[in-house]
Amino acid sequence: MVKLTFLGHACWLIESPQGRIIIDPFLNGNPQAVKKPDDIVVDAILVTHGHGDHLGDAIAISKRNNAVIVSPYELAMFCGSKGANVHPMHIGGSREFPFGWVKLLPASHGSGYVEDSGSIIYLGNPCGYLIKTGGRMIYHAGDTGLIADMELIGRLYEVDVALLPIGGNFTMDPDDAFEAVKLIRPKVVIPMHYNTWPLIEQDPNKFVERVNRETNTKGVVVKPGESYEI
Ligand code: NI
Ligand code: MN
Repeated sequence: MVKLTFLGHACWLIESPQGRIIIDPFLNGNPQAVKKPDDIVVDAILVTHGHGDHLGDAIAISKRNNAVIVSPYELAMFCGSKGANVHPMHIGGSREFPFGWVKLLPASHGSGYVEDSGSIIYLGNPCGYLIKTGGRMIYHAGDTGLIADMELIGRLYEVDVALLPIGGNFTMDPDDAFEAVKLIRPKVVIPMHYNTWPLIEQDPNKFVERVNRETNTKGVVVKPGESYEI
């Protein structure tokens, strides 16, 4: 059994018999957050890109748990320079960790970290993650537009759960996320990265209803604080 708990925005806690993984731990300052960084107990932290709503509290959580941050190289080096324990990887690379198998996939987005002064440190390419833990394959798309690369995911992997952004403006909107579902062909899709702010307001029920009506994938809405077990 693998348990996926939505902590709001793009933050997911994955608990499997192999370990505990948090992805994109944006909790402080996240209007949807249902947990504080100090509540988080994990073995690993996966970060898709350097934007504040994804890197979030990763460094503090890493230090307090002595948990490794897995991310694209430039972002990992940045976190390492702030004192976090890091494991740099890059797109196309995969690795078996005690907590599961992880592969970095392309995402079409940015990865600049905005400093308090307003200047931007560019932290390489953003990514999505394929994670196999507890015998389940999970795809977290990160922030991305609809990309043809998603067709390869559908061809090469049997994805149990796909976590896809639907908010629009910065990422895919529900129509593009629907096309992504048709390319990835996961067993289950759960929307994320919507309704955190007015700019990314969407109706997740409309999205999952369309998925359930028009594809073989099961669409499920998981609210912040709720879990889905597979
Ligand atoms: Ni972003
Ligand atoms: Mn984002």
